[in-house]
Amino acid sequence: MPRVLANVKARAGEGVTAQFNPCIETGAMTHSPPKIQSLISRKATGLKGRIRVPGDKSMSHRALMFGAIAIGETRIRGLLEAEDVVNTAKAMAALGARTVRDENGVWHVQGVGVAGLQTPDHPLDFGNSGTGVRLALGLMATTPLIARCIGDASLSRRPMGRVTKPLEEMGVRFEAAEGNRLPLTIYGAKHAVPITYTLPVASAQVKSAILLAGLNAPGRTTVVEPVATRDHTERMLKAFGAHISIEEKNGARHISVEGQHELTAQDIDIPGDPSSAAFPMVAALLCEGSDIVIENIMLNPTRTGLITTLTEMGGRIDILNRRTAGGEEVGDLRVKASKLRGIRVPAARAPSMIDEYPILAVAASFAEGTTRMDGLEELRVKESDRLAAVEAGLQVNGVLTHSGPDWLEVSGGGAPGGGRVATHMDHRIAMAFLVMGLASRIHTSIDDGSFIATSFPDFVGLMNGMGARIAALEVK
Ligand code: S3P
Repeated sequence: MPRVLANVKARAGEGVTAQFNPCIETGAMTHSPPKIQSLISRKATGLKGRIRVPGDKSMSHRALMFGAIAIGETRIRGLLEAEDVVNTAKAMAALGARTVRDENGVWHVQGVGVAGLQTPDHPLDFGNSGTGVRLALGLMATTPLIARCIGDASLSRRPMGRVTKPLEEMGVRFEAAEGNRLPLTIYGAKHAVPITYTLPVASAQVKSAILLAGLNAPGRTTVVEPVATRDHTERMLKAFGAHISIEEKNGARHISVEGQHELTAQDIDIPGDPSSAAFPMVAALLCEGSDIVIENIMLNPTRTGLITTLTEMGGRIDILNRRTAGGEEVGDLRVKASKLRGIRVPAARAPSMIDEYPILAVAASFAEGTTRMDGLEELRVKESDRLAAVEAGLQVNGVLTHSGPDWLEVSGGGAPGGGRVATHMDHRIAMAFLVMGLASRIHTSIDDGSFIATSFPDFVGLMNGMGARIAALEVK
């Protein structure tokens, strides 16, 4: 049974085998290849409910990886149990860090120390996940191991040169497919050289890969970040006891790590992923008569650009019960149906909402007036060329758009709908256009919802539980 549908049925109490067996060793987990699943989404009103979305993806990858090189047992609650993160868990197990999920859903990682990772006896498959492979390359870089890294067709198209280039400066060697892509073999440096590196692109993945490599390099490794990106690596490394310091100089962040100090295992609670909350949030804004609460969402300021933007557009989003949990700001989001107006979204905001443009573009198509988004160059190298995929999806549903290499303009007024959207192996394109169908005049459909399982396996069940109308169209 396709995984998205399996989750719908599980919610309806139809007794589908759980995705994760209790007490399973990650190394033993098997995955069936994704099956293409076309989905249809029909007009809905009055979404209601208190929901929780799965754990934050960025924090989940990091918790597993940092746990793998800490001393002792790291325990993780609220880990995102989706394909991208499970692939990271399997990779950590293959590198020697025993990773087990217990019957209460807590993940236990037995760390091996900053220099303790070992050559795996099979290729590491990162599936669809750029974060998984790029961070793992950094983690492995300064230990003399050899590992072959592979991924699915989408990941195999994505650029790895942005991490292999700085890691080569640290003494690492790579053999990669043409254009610095996967499949790729890493030869970790025996005598690593710490570097100072200024990020040429605003990328938390690149920043993190270099800092992780620095953990086992002698001396001080520094990343200079002219534009702030998500800072989960810095925060979480600090919690694990890394010798990390951050300075602001001339508007840039200089993040340094002193290498060859051991990390200490931690207990980590992972709050809900704001990038997943984005989909029910926009659905509630767009569907007449809706009033929902999304509980326990991580509100790290490097991740909340969409909330700022939707609020500027007139969205009624209240943050309730603000608190701190696991070193991050957390809150509950109350979202009510709202009339939105088009705005200009500044380029400077892009890093804090980089994964949210597909769903913002859908929201913009229902706003009054035009919305212009700048600074979108990085969307070209996500799970798909997201700028092209979003624009095509909007157009096939009757929305007028204009675009350039790094910008998109969306005419509002409501999406007529009726189109079938090509998702290009991209979970966020799939979920964004299913949300569009809930508010458009005619239903929308997507060619393949199976990749939703990479980040939000229960998306359809959760949405339908609030009153959405998303269903399987055909199963090939
Ligand atoms: C992520 C960083 C971002 C983001 C991705 C998760 C991370 O990628 O798009 O989904 O966890 O570090 P870039 O670093 O390529 O911007």
